[in-house]
Amino acid sequence: MNYTAAVITMSDKGSQGLRKDTSGPAVEEILKENGWDVVYTNMIPDDFETIKAELIKCADQLDVCLVMTTGGTGFSKRDVTPEATHAVADREVRGIPEAMRAESMKITPMGMLSRAEAGLRGGTLIVNLPGSEKAARECLTAVIKPIRHGIDVLRGQSHDCAEMRKKEEHHHG
Ligand code: MTE
Repeated sequence: MNYTAAVITMSDKGSQGLRKDTSGPAVEEILKENGWDVVYTNMIPDDFETIKAELIKCADQLDVCLVMTTGGTGFSKRDVTPEATHAVADREVRGIPEAMRAESMKITPMGMLSRAEAGLRGGTLIVNLPGSEKAARECLTAVIKPIRHGIDVLRGQSHDCAEMRKKEEHHHG
């Protein structure tokens, strides 16, 4: 199976060409290092309807396995990425943001300020990352490995978690 991914950067300034986006490319790089095929990237403003439409396009038209968003998860009034993700998802995935925040808190108490969410829409997993390159790298690194097994199960490639765990243990010795 081809593990396809899209990376969407939420940034009012970036989408107007007023700020260079380094988080999107960093997320893309980490995905590629982990064997993901990044087939689509885009930068859009922090606008609820625009974000919703972009996520729906990635899931329903591009049919990517994974959509990683970066930015728009904080407390600024324009930060609505988690709300847009929630609005388009048919099922929530709480564990991924829980894991990201748990790992982030080991690095900085500011980790609790990201309101990132994750959810499933059809055969697509959508995961929010914070906006700064540092935070996006830290959060993605914390969750990227188990996501692949989730996609296998979501796409009907595997139902056997026990088998996967055995392979994993074998791998890590
Ligand atoms: N998570 C990690 N791992 N490392 C960080 O440096 N920064 C936090 C938080 N999560 C941080 C982090 C900060 S300062 C904020 S404001 C929130 O993410 C939200 O970021 P966003 O508004 O850019 O999405």
